[in-house]
Amino acid sequence: MIRKIVFYPDPVLRKPAAPVTEVTDEVRALATDMIETMYEAQGVGLAAPQIGVSSQLAVVDVSHDEECISYLRVNGKETTLDEICPLVFVNPELEFLGEKEGDTEGCLSFPDLRGEIVRPSEVKATVQNLDGETLVIETDGLFARAIQHETDHLFGKLFIDRMSSARKLAIKRQLKEMQAEFG
Ligand code: NI
Repeated sequence: MIRKIVFYPDPVLRKPAAPVTEVTDEVRALATDMIETMYEAQGVGLAAPQIGVSSQLAVVDVSHDEECISYLRVNGKETTLDEICPLVFVNPELEFLGEKEGDTEGCLSFPDLRGEIVRPSEVKATVQNLDGETLVIETDGLFARAIQHETDHLFGKLFIDRMSSARKLAIKRQLKEMQAEFG
């Protein structure tokens, strides 16, 4: 089922989400809906708060482009994006590695808004999947970026917070318009 995506400045986007303590049928159904909703909106990631659910659950799929990463290991084993995507994860803990790198990002909770965001280029993400398994995901490129962006959502942090002050100034009017329309 396609869920309604909540837009900035909905307060749920600013609330740190609760860890998922038990993978119930409800959590599974939610994850299925989130994948469907992400594809429908043509996004590469979606976090539960973006559909109004304050839980540490997110989905990512960047498998449209195997070239968007240079490596991917899951629990120490080389793998492909095709095998792991769509990735559904709960309760992520991230270690940041590599040089910081800027790239353009968008966010489904900010239609029409894009901006360059500087982030560590590599990540080691310890997450749980819906089978209760712990996955240690080491990667770079767009996959590392998407995992960081979605994990930010789970802690109430938004990509606008990571924009340069010049970019923030440039989008001030757009944010005000969103506040008027969706606030
Ligand atoms: Ni987002």
